[in-house]
Amino acid sequence: MSLNEQQALESRYLMHTFARKPVCFVEGAGMHLTDDEGNDYLDFLAGIGVCSLGHCHPAVSEAVAAQAGKLMHVGNYYYIEKRGELARMVDEALNQNLPGQDAQQWCSFFTNSGAESNECAMKLARLHARKQATGGADAPNVIVTLDGSFHGRTMETLAATAQPAKQEAFQPLPEGFLHTPINDIAALERLFEENEGTICAVMLEPIQGESGVHPCTPEFLRAVEQLARKAGALLIFDEVQTGVYRTGLPFAFQHFGVVPDIVSIAKGIGDGMPMGICAARADVAAAFEPGDHGTTFGGSNLAVAAATATLAELAKPGVCERIQDVGAYLREGLASLQGTSNVRGMGLMCACDLDEADANQVVLEGLGKGLVLNATGPRTLRFLPPLVCERAEVDVLVGKLAELV
Ligand SMILES: Cc1ncc(COP(=O)(O)O)c(C=O)c1O
Repeated sequence: MSLNEQQALESRYLMHTFARKPVCFVEGAGMHLTDDEGNDYLDFLAGIGVCSLGHCHPAVSEAVAAQAGKLMHVGNYYYIEKRGELARMVDEALNQNLPGQDAQQWCSFFTNSGAESNECAMKLARLHARKQATGGADAPNVIVTLDGSFHGRTMETLAATAQPAKQEAFQPLPEGFLHTPINDIAALERLFEENEGTICAVMLEPIQGESGVHPCTPEFLRAVEQLARKAGALLIFDEVQTGVYRTGLPFAFQHFGVVPDIVSIAKGIGDGMPMGICAARADVAAAFEPGDHGTTFGGSNLAVAAATATLAELAKPGVCERIQDVGAYLREGLASLQGTSNVRGMGLMCACDLDEADANQVVLEGLGKGLVLNATGPRTLRFLPPLVCERAEVDVLVGKLAELV
């Protein structure tokens, strides 16, 4: 079927929630995608930070294919092969690069997406606060999030997402959220002072992704930690985009030395298989009892097989170092271009601003040059390549971008 026919069908039968680019990819391998006419592309978006090992990594494809032929789904009423093992791998990854005294016992709840991981995190924080307090319904229930954040598209995660333009059409949104500017310690102190006794959690992305890769400063994260601990509130880190080795460590919080109580994970965990995790410190997770939360699909046999294979590959020696090296090389390359500024990011989560070029136009023209690119704003390009990206592929990117920006 031609691209024109695909477009006509999708236009007629799909809801118009995305302004799609005029291309239909039909195959992938590592950093490469192939379209329906056989054209080759280098992928610097990885399905929005999802295909962490690149497209169709043999370890994941084989694990999924084998599991698909054996048992795909039985549901959460039963034990599932390798699910406990996967949760142990998640616990080990969360405890890496932390001083011994900061290591925690982590428990996982498996979901299917980032929004669901955050829903679970927020429900857990509210329930934990209720169980800590003697006041029951009067327990702290407010969740603080940061201006410009992105936490998902469900009603609750949209209420958490402090971007009025995205929220406006869907009012009334669930209550119980307050927002504060990123990296503004004085504003955060005021917010805690003015709302004493009502805050049950602060939820934030250590590096804001959808807003164009804006990192929290270490000082801000330490202030959040200090104020939250003093108020008895939990720290939820939304690592849906920054997690799973994206920043060159298993989780971004490990760069900052601030350990959250709850971590939301998704995107890269299954290398393309829909999968998410809400991981919490065991004593916090203990607030959940049977019946408090659930899912039909989360943690299916198929998803567990994909995530186990993905994490096992990413845990191999040298992976973090390579991601950090190639990420630094990418930022150097972007900074060397005429017409770019504010190059930023960590590991293979990077962005730059364009002095004059229109970012959406660069994305479209990039397709014509065999590049899959992403604009997060009219003047901002974001780069989330598969974590198997090498320096040579960065050279190709930078060479072609020089003609576009
Ligand atoms: C930080 C963050 N949280 C949550 C989400 C929502 O994830 P999903 O689209 O899988 O629901 C995203 C998606 O981009 C994200 O970047």
